[in-house]
Amino acid sequence: MNSNENYVPYAAVAAGLSVAILVLFQVYLVREPARISADEARNQKAAVDTGQTLFANNCVTCHGEKGEGSDIAPSLNNKEFLSKTDDDTIFSIVSSGVPNTRMPAWNQSHGGPMTDEDVRNLVAFIRSWQANAPDVTVTVRPGDANQGAAIFNGTCIVCHGPEGKGTDRAPALNDPAKLQQFNDSWYRQVIMDGRPAQGMPTWGTVLSPEQINDVLALFDLWRSRTVTQTALLTSTPALQSTPSATTVVATATAAPPSTSAGTVTATEQVARPSNAGGPGAALSLTGDLSAGAQVYTSNCQTCHGHEGKGGVTNPGSSDGTIPPLNPIDDTIANKDTKVFAYNVDLFVEHGSTPDGPNPQQSMPAWGDDKKLTPQQIADVIAYIISLNK
Ligand code: HEC
Ligand code: HEC
Ligand code: HEC
Repeated sequence: MNSNENYVPYAAVAAGLSVAILVLFQVYLVREPARISADEARNQKAAVDTGQTLFANNCVTCHGEKGEGSDIAPSLNNKEFLSKTDDDTIFSIVSSGVPNTRMPAWNQSHGGPMTDEDVRNLVAFIRSWQANAPDVTVTVRPGDANQGAAIFNGTCIVCHGPEGKGTDRAPALNDPAKLQQFNDSWYRQVIMDGRPAQGMPTWGTVLSPEQINDVLALFDLWRSRTVTQTALLTSTPALQSTPSATTVVATATAAPPSTSAGTVTATEQVARPSNAGGPGAALSLTGDLSAGAQVYTSNCQTCHGHEGKGGVTNPGSSDGTIPPLNPIDDTIANKDTKVFAYNVDLFVEHGSTPDGPNPQQSMPAWGDDKKLTPQQIADVIAYIISLNK
């Protein structure tokens, strides 16, 4: 080592470099946030674009081209909905669907076709409407006790018991005195928030506001319960044992036709669709077998299999498969052709959502949605009956 070595030039270069690095770093610091937010904007734009395509391919049939809604499904492109619903809630509704309605589950986590990322992109697209969303007043349809009973029997019955009588897992809900004490908004809040620590789940992210209204309408029925209603509820075994098989009022209003073979009473265990409604015009027409076979092949076979033999899976439903129609369930078949036709007609007219957490396939409402004429329904009923001869 040479003790006379002059370090000054090195020190100067080092100092110069440090300054340069510091300056560059400052420049970087100043520009970095801009760069990050430009990236974010680009990612956001990509998410919205992808979401738009997913929406166009999967959602417009029900929610409309621009999310304006239709007679099938509510508008999503509206200020009210977007301002009171956060991203997590939309994510959860789209993922799980809304049980017992026509809103399907979309996320693979719930047996649907989409990934988490697909659903996030859809949420980004729906959110992108907010800035210019029209101020439409959402017409919330009034609660329907029939639907409420279907929801209750599909979702709440495991803990609160048949007719809300309570079980060892959860308290009774059908005590008229307690129901008198608290009003709808109290119940709505409890149902939405749940009491997770006490074992009552949070339903606000699972059930739609309309579905909660339906449940409240059922509670209202319990609240104002009369002797007849009590008798009706307790004389309906199907309501207690097979959750979505029947609903309170449908059983009361849609008694099957009485026949010379004997009267079919409402208490007989008959499978009924989850959707309410009475018998259709088809029952007064004569069905044609070969026309019925064609109606079947074009409309029913994809779900019920070749000649009604079944075998089509239905993830998310309790059965796991779409029911065969050949042989058809004992609770639908009947020696008396009129009764048999009546039982089948209710399903074909009004459709039905099977029991289970998130059934992927539901039975469409061929009559209510005017997808088949009464004559076509009469024909396909004749065909189904012939398969079971
Ligand atoms: C077969 C018809 C149908 C299709 C297809 C459909 N939906 Fe729905 N959707 C509905 C119905 C019906 C409801 C209302 C359910 C109820 O009664 O609460 C609904 C409700 C919703 C809601 C909640 C709205 C609210 O006001 O609470 C969101 C969000 C939604 N759908 C998003 C979507 C997205 C995203 C898609 C496409 C991936 C989609 N839906 C496809 C029928 C459909
Ligand atoms: C997993 C079990 C479980 C399910 C499913 C469930 N609950 Fe509950 N629920 C409970 C428990 C436990 C409590 C009592 C909580 C407490 O101790 O405060 C409760 C309390 C309630 C209360 C408050 C009763 C009161 O008098 O304080 C209402 C209302 C209620 N549930 C409605 C519903 C509805 C509607 C559904 C279906 C959408 C449902 N619950 C589904 C477990 C359940
Ligand atoms: C998109 C699939 C799909 C199509 C298409 C379809 N169904 Fe269904 N069908 C179902 C499902 C799912 C059920 C079960 C409903 C339930 O359990 O509540 C069902 C139930 C039924 C039932 C009651 C059977 C039982 O054991 O519960 C009858 C009857 C029926 N369908 C007839 C028809 C006829 C007739 C057609 C054609 C006009 C048809 N279905 C088309 C899905 C479909």
